[in-house]
Amino acid sequence: MKNRIYIKDLKNNIGKEIVIAGWVDVRRDQGKMVFFDIRDMTGKAQCIALPSRIEAIEMAKEIRPEWVLKITGIVNKRPDKNIKDDVLNGDVELEAVNIEILNKAETSAIDLSTDGYEIGEEHRMKYRYLDLRRGRMQKNIRNRHKVVKFIRDYLDKENFIEIETPILSKSTAEGARDFIVPSRLDKGKFFALPQAPQQHKQLLMASGMEKYFQMAKCMRDEDLRGDRQPEFTQLDMEMSFVEKEEVMNLNENLLIEIVQKLYPEKEIQEIPFPKISHKEAMEKYGNDRPDLRKDKNNKNLLAFCWVIDFPFFEKANKDNNPQAEGEWTFTHNPFSAAQAKFHDDLLNKRNIPNILTNQYDITLNGFEIGGGSIRNHEPEALLAVYDIMGVKKEETEKNLFYMLEAFRSGTPPHGGIAWGFDRLMMILENEPNIREVIAFPKTGEGKDLMMGSPSEISDKQLKELGIKLI
Ligand code: AMO
Repeated sequence: MKNRIYIKDLKNNIGKEIVIAGWVDVRRDQGKMVFFDIRDMTGKAQCIALPSRIEAIEMAKEIRPEWVLKITGIVNKRPDKNIKDDVLNGDVELEAVNIEILNKAETSAIDLSTDGYEIGEEHRMKYRYLDLRRGRMQKNIRNRHKVVKFIRDYLDKENFIEIETPILSKSTAEGARDFIVPSRLDKGKFFALPQAPQQHKQLLMASGMEKYFQMAKCMRDEDLRGDRQPEFTQLDMEMSFVEKEEVMNLNENLLIEIVQKLYPEKEIQEIPFPKISHKEAMEKYGNDRPDLRKDKNNKNLLAFCWVIDFPFFEKANKDNNPQAEGEWTFTHNPFSAAQAKFHDDLLNKRNIPNILTNQYDITLNGFEIGGGSIRNHEPEALLAVYDIMGVKKEETEKNLFYMLEAFRSGTPPHGGIAWGFDRLMMILENEPNIREVIAFPKTGEGKDLMMGSPSEISDKQLKELGIKLI
């Protein structure tokens, strides 16, 4: 819009006629005069329509909350007695000269004047595009952008490059259930949506990329909780020629910088982050994501903790690996390397319950916000992992031929990590669940109520895909 200025800049234009655009917030018709607040993405300001401005006051009598306006007006300093300290534009107001209606709005389906916690989730999700207008959601989504940008700049300086990996990927046993996409060109065959870019990022190490990262969408068909979505975002990274400590240090420093630069009101309880073994966590706290906060009432206290020395294998059950109930399964990642002292045990399939991995998890205030490991880059070790899990060598060679061939073609030692980025943002923004920091999340039942998905598809689409519903 020509000549439009942002509301945050009104104070620099006292005495001038300017143009702003935005949404009507609250409105108070005092008969002779009309006051209303107008907001854009940078803030709010008070407008006043005076009786002397006949056209403007006629319009101001008609407008309603959430209408979209273009206003030409004069920025005035408020009389001393009306000055509000501590609010943006508390010392100025806009005298409307001309009001143009750009879009009318029916009465909003949900109240936008509060922080929204009191409104039923079904309503907020159905009208998510409105819900996102509220100040709290604007703040969450904008701060999310700031953290992403900070991460990108930081990793760029550390010589990482961001590489996109495919969304149409392959179904492989990675722990959770896959979301499946039928192929039209190759009927009867299916892509899977990635649960994580794990294999692609390791293949990028085989490609000589050395330092990869990605803000990666991951899809897992699992039961939902407050900190779990079927579609979520990882800060995913992988590095060649690194040891565990190097990956951990880089991530620790990045987390510290994010907090210190972007959330200076927060206090990190302990630096360097404490490290505890999985065994100690289970014995002392009864879980592997202990909440180490000394004061759980302090909303600005951040207690990070590394958990290390995880067992490599455990018996599979309905929760950790529904596809392999009763068998040995990996606790975290089949591509992890065993700790050096257990390397021979792994190759010889001995001492299985006691083999420890090079896995490291990072926890924050009782949430697992990330996990990673140094990987196997030797084909024999990867084959042994699958053998222990009951998958014979021939089958692994068939299923994971590309990984094994890569490992036989000059793949450097490598390791990495992935953060649950939504979980980190949830904690930094003091929110009770990750839906509050995701623009368009699914409900607790895994549905998109705004668009109404999942939804049926037409018979024609099914036929094209060669699919019959039972
Ligand atoms: P992992 O499966 O531990 O590791 O995932 C990494 C982090 O992602 C977050 N997370 C989730 N967040 C929201 N909703 C979900 N459904 C969900 N599932 C996981 C958690 C978790 O710590 N490829 C490996 C990483 C690696 O080894 O580099 C991986 O995906 O915060």
